[in-house]
Amino acid sequence: MAHAPNMPSPIAIPGVSKIVAIGSGKGGVGKTTVAVNLAIALSRLGQRVGLIDADIYGPNVPLMMGSAQQPAVGPGNIIIPNLTHGIKTISIGYISPGDKPLVMRGPMLHQIIRQFLQQVDWGELDYLIIDLPPGTGDVVISLVQTVPLTGAVVVSTPSDVSLQDARKALEMFAQVNVPVLGIVEKQYNLPFLGSVELIPSIREGGDRGLPVTLAGPKSPQATAFYDIAEKLMLQAEAAAAAASDVIEIS
Ligand SMILES: Nc1ncnc2c1ncn2[C@@H]1O[C@H](COP(=O)(O)OP(=O)(O)OP(=O)(O)O)[C@@H](O)[C@H]1O
Ligand SMILES: [Mg+2]
Repeated sequence: MAHAPNMPSPIAIPGVSKIVAIGSGKGGVGKTTVAVNLAIALSRLGQRVGLIDADIYGPNVPLMMGSAQQPAVGPGNIIIPNLTHGIKTISIGYISPGDKPLVMRGPMLHQIIRQFLQQVDWGELDYLIIDLPPGTGDVVISLVQTVPLTGAVVVSTPSDVSLQDARKALEMFAQVNVPVLGIVEKQYNLPFLGSVELIPSIREGGDRGLPVTLAGPKSPQATAFYDIAEKLMLQAEAAAAAASDVIEIS
């Protein structure tokens, strides 16, 4: 990846093999639902998984994972992530819960994202999944300046507006040299990584902190997420291998 001279170079997180961001051009299309269910599906498929809620202004991961406890802080100010449904998870919602909106400047946001990546005891992970906030690319820029991303998954609904915004998201990831590993559409039978039906039990699972994937790959509502997880693993392995090839040649 080419870097402007004043841009810090990203540094891998020791022990963390692949980092995958879940984004979209538009808000409310199901990013967090996909991130949470993908994390659980990957974990149930035998992967060691961490989950970062990078939505600092509107963290939804605590609700959807059904976890709220304040993370412990270990020696050297290392944050111990919450372990929920087998997933190591961090969210600003664990640290600053409540309904008060957080008002902060850009540098602070960057600082929090860096902390979540570098000052959390992630241990050994096959996948670190990052649930991105809606809207601008601020968080994505903080991410790519801090760590090498294996790739991104773009979530969209089949509406024209959402697809148009998804194209914007694709362009944004292209600009920062992050390979897009696939698209997830919240619609019946539309492929790429896969599509997820709009069904009440998926929303209810999120609202209760018990994502549908907890019922295992054979559960009808969960199958789509497991299929997406399997396809994502293939894409992420390929992207990680391609990235290490690049390093070997240069
Ligand atoms: N497949 C689905 N079937 C039914 N409801 C869904 C599905 N996917 C997501 N939802 C619901 O749609 C709403 C928005 O989903 P979610 O919070 O995952 O979107 P988001 O893209 O993360 O939103 P934001 O941009 O605000 O972060 C939630 O109430 C969620 O439960
Ligand atoms: Mg969200």
